[in-house]
Order: sequence, then C-alpha cells, then structure tokens
Amino acid sequence: MHDHYTGRGLMATKSIKPGDVIVSIPSNLLITSQVVLRSELKDVLKIFPVKLTARLLLCAFVIYERQKGPSSFWAPYIGCLPDAFSTPSYFTSEELQHLPAALRQRATEQTRLLCDGFSKLTKFFEFGQECHFLSDFSFDLDDFKWAWSAVNTRTLYYKVEEAGSHHLVDPSERDVYVLAPFLDLLNHSSTAEVAGSFNSIKQCYEIQTTTPYNKFDQVFIHYGPHDNETLLLEYGFVEPTNPHSVVAITKEDVIKFSSEVMDAWVSETGSVLPKRFERIEAKGIWDISCSLNGPSWHLTVSLNILCMGQEQYGRGEWVGLLGGEEPSQECLARSRRAVQNILCNYLAKAVTSSQEVLSIKSDSYHHYMTVQLMQEKKFILEECLKQVQQFEPQEQT
Ligand SMILES: C[S@@+](CC[C@H](N)C(=O)[O-])C[C@H]1O[C@@H](n2cnc3c(N)ncnc32)[C@H](O)[C@@H]1O
Repeated sequence: MHDHYTGRGLMATKSIKPGDVIVSIPSNLLITSQVVLRSELKDVLKIFPVKLTARLLLCAFVIYERQKGPSSFWAPYIGCLPDAFSTPSYFTSEELQHLPAALRQRATEQTRLLCDGFSKLTKFFEFGQECHFLSDFSFDLDDFKWAWSAVNTRTLYYKVEEAGSHHLVDPSERDVYVLAPFLDLLNHSSTAEVAGSFNSIKQCYEIQTTTPYNKFDQVFIHYGPHDNETLLLEYGFVEPTNPHSVVAITKEDVIKFSSEVMDAWVSETGSVLPKRFERIEAKGIWDISCSLNGPSWHLTVSLNILCMGQEQYGRGEWVGLLGGEEPSQECLARSRRAVQNILCNYLAKAVTSSQEVLSIKSDSYHHYMTVQLMQEKKFILEECLKQVQQFEPQEQT
C-alpha cells in the first residue's frame, strides 16, 4: 500500500531535456535568515540576548507567520505545508523501539536538539511578549516540532552568507538554509542529477536537470548521497533501492572476529588487536561497512592488518597494506574467514530482527519504513556474503 509513496510531487507538463531549467523561484519568495532578520521579528531579534542559529530563525519565522493566519503574506505557502511529518519525532515510543539501534540513537540525539531548540524559542517568544513587541502569542512543543520538521525536511542547501553571516545569527551552525515555496514540492531520487544556483541576472534560484523526463513523468531532485537511515531520520522516507545504503560493522566486531581466526598467541594476548586497530584508525580508517558492492575498502584493509602474523606486523608491513599492497596468502585466507564470519553473524541477527518487525501487525507508514530498513539490511548482507564467497580461492587438486 505504501510502495513508492512520495506524497505530493511535481510532474513534467512537457518533455524535459538535459540542461533544462525545471524550476525557477524569484528571490523575493525565498525565505532565508536575512528575510527573518528584516521581518516583524527583527526588533525582538536585535535585543534578545541569545543569538539564534539560521535554522531556529526560520522556525521562529514559520511559527510567527502561521499564527498571523490569513493576514500573513506567506499564508498561501504556510497553508500548503503538511500538517504532520513522518520523521522519527512523529513516531510513537513503541515505533521508535522497533527502529534499528543505531538509528534509534540518532533519533534520540535529534529529539535532544529539538527540545533544546524549543526551549530557546520559548524564551525568545516570551521575551518578545515581555518587551511588548509580540502580543497574544502562544506556542507549544507541537508547534515547534511542526516548524522544525517543516524546516528540516524542506529547506534547500543555499549559501546565503556570501559576504559573511549576519552578526545576529549564531555562527555555531552554518547559515545555509532556504525555504523555497513550490520548489519544495520536488521529491528526491538518488538517480536524479541536478544543479541548483542563483541566477543573478534573473534574480531567481534555478534548478537545472541533467536527467531527461517524458511528459507526465514525476520530476525529481537529489537531496544528497544519503543512505536510507539518514533519509528516514532527516526526511521521513526510505528509497526502495538506495545505492548509498550500507551496513555498518562495529570496530569491536572487527577486532573480535579477527581475533577468532588469528594465531593463538595474538588472540590470547588481549590487547594486541585493539592496539593494532588504534594504530590503523589513527591513519584514517572510518568507513567500516559493507554494501551491495561488497565489504568497504576500509573494512577489508583493517581485517587484513588485524589478520597479519605478528612477525610481519612487527616489521611494519601493515603500512604497505594501507598503501594498497597485497597481503600474504595466509593473511588473506584468515581475513576472508573473518569477514565471512562477521557477515554470517550480522545476517543471522538481521533475519531475526526482520522477522520480529514483520510479525507486528500494523499498516502505519512508520512501520512500513522500519520493515523496509530491516529487509534492506538483510538483502545487503546476503549479497555481500555471496560476493565474498564467490572470491573464495578454489581448493588445489
Ligand atoms: C521537499 S518535500 C517534497 C514534497 C512533499 N512530497 C510534499 O508532499 O509536500 C520533502 C518530503 O517529501 C517526501 N519525499 C521526498 N522524496 C521522497 C521519496 N523519494 N519517497 C517518498 N517520500 C519522499 C518526504 O516526506 C520528505 O520529507
């Protein structure tokens, strides 16, 4: 029922060729921090003792203009914003429990940011009322969550601070957000190729596509090379086939599974492999994951180094592996066994989690997305395992 559901989107009314401008929004309809600083909120902003980030300025603006109702210039736009969102802050606590652990943790961090933002804007609006700049103003956590979600899911990345950010904007976060009415109806596809820029002659923000479209096709833009956990966290959706999705492998598991296939001496000496890992980490190993393309290079090279004999390691040969040198046959065989064990272990857990979420009777969109994430993880691990097994050296006859 939820398959490929994208909500509202934009459709091509004629065929579109590579290089065509698909949307062009005049600068007076772009909502940036500069617009907020010139708005009716400007007098409060000038004397409020705490600087607000560009994102919070946009939230304050949207909340304020929404309260003004039909008298707001922005009422037609605000009236078109969704009433609710499908990001984790709209999940019930039970739904949150079913999310993959790493995503759940990121969602908790996001909730903390949201509460922090709410507390800052509560003080801001109270201050505005005390100073009699704002009258009859009421706003609660739900209003803030709504505004924060609208800003987070609909802003474009747009560098407004060409001449340096305004002194009233909190510089702890970059001033790169813009709400662009109408343009924000464009949905995301990881295969869409677009470029956005400000056309200073026409004074419009334009998006040019490299991807062609037929008449009546849905036209997409690209929100960034995000995996599905990030898309769910930041935008409240998942893509059915997302080339950016990966399964992260923990550092502890890389060490544990390497230790199991290593020489007794190394595996029994508890701190040997963690120390090795620390040294390679210091050289810049961060993407320890696997994807539909197989284990990441960082995962492979770290396993190769952890699975090296102590003598070779002692001679400093591990540095060569980081530079692309081939490991010895013995090391390679151990490293392959370790990666297979990791994948089998992760796959078994993914199968169990997948079955657990599938057994829950729910037709909510939140649940649908959780199921998609679990199935995707299982699929990536299965495909990755197949690839690793395919490269198993054949037995000598
Ligand atoms: C910038 S808005 C796009 C317009 C939106 N669909 C609407 O109805 O207003 C971004 C939101 O659209 C939805 N969305 C965008 N791309 C999507 C996709 N490929 N699949 C499902 N939902 C998508 C998500 O809810 C996201 O937060």
